[in-house]
Amino acid sequence: MRKIIIAGNWKMYKTSLEAIELVTLLKREVVDNAAVDIVVCPPFTALADVRDTLSESNVGLGAQNLYWEDSGAFTGEVSAPMLKDLGVAYVIIGHSERRQFFGETDETVNKKIRAALHHGLLPIVCIGESLAQREQNRTMDVIRTQCEGSLKGLTEDEMRKLIIAYEPVWAIGTGKTATPQQAQEVHKFIRELLGEMFGSDCAAGVRIQYGGSVKPENTKDLMSQPDIDGALVGGASLKSDSFSLIIKNSSDIKK
Ligand code: PGA
Repeated sequence: MRKIIIAGNWKMYKTSLEAIELVTLLKREVVDNAAVDIVVCPPFTALADVRDTLSESNVGLGAQNLYWEDSGAFTGEVSAPMLKDLGVAYVIIGHSERRQFFGETDETVNKKIRAALHHGLLPIVCIGESLAQREQNRTMDVIRTQCEGSLKGLTEDEMRKLIIAYEPVWAIGTGKTATPQQAQEVHKFIRELLGEMFGSDCAAGVRIQYGGSVKPENTKDLMSQPDIDGALVGGASLKSDSFSLIIKNSSDIKK
C-alpha cells in the first residue's frame, strides 16, 4: 500500500515570521490527519523556525535543494549534514526551476540524490517535460532520459526511499493542470520504467506525486488515479486554508 504524500514547495516565499504564521495555522487544521503524509518545504532561512513551530506535529519538514559535498569551499551552498542537523527529513531535488535557471542536470540530480540518501534524507525527485517537448510528442522519451540519468546506479533499497514528483513544466504556476488522464498516463509510464530499472515489486511501492497547479478543486480527481500517490504543491501551499483543503481532499483515497 502506498500512503498519499502531500508536500508544499514554498519556493522563494515567506520570511521566518510569515512562515511561522502559516505553519501555526496549518498544524491546527491538519492535527487529526493520519491518513496522509504531510510535508512543508520552506526556504532555508525559515527551516529552523518552522521546525520549532512544527515540533510534535504530524507535519514533516523538507528543504528545496542541497549540495552533494558534505562541506568545503562552495560559497552559498548547503549540504546534507547541515540539513540533517536542522531536523530536515525530506529534500526536493531537481525541480524544473532549478534545472531551468540554475543549470541542474540529470547528472547533478543523481549526485544530490546519493548525498541525500547517504545522510538519511528522503529525496523528492522532480521530473517532467516542457510544453515544446509535449507538443513534439517527446514526453515519454524525456521522462525516460530523466529517470535513467537521475536514478542511475541506485540500488533497489535506495529507490524504495525515493519519492518521484512528475511535474509537467507547462503546468507549473500557470494554472494549467494536466488532466487526471494525462497525468495518469505518464505516472503509469514512470512506474513501468521503474519496474524495468528496479523490478516490479520495488516499482509498486514507490510513491509518485503529481505537481503543477494542484488546487483543492482538482485534488480528488488527480489523487483518485491509480498511479498518482500524492502532490507537490507550489502556489496553493502558501495559504493554510488551500493547502489543508488539498490534504483533506486526499484523505479518504486509498492506494
Ligand atoms: P504550482 O507549483 O503548484 O504553483 O504549479 C508546483 C511546483 O513547482 O512544485
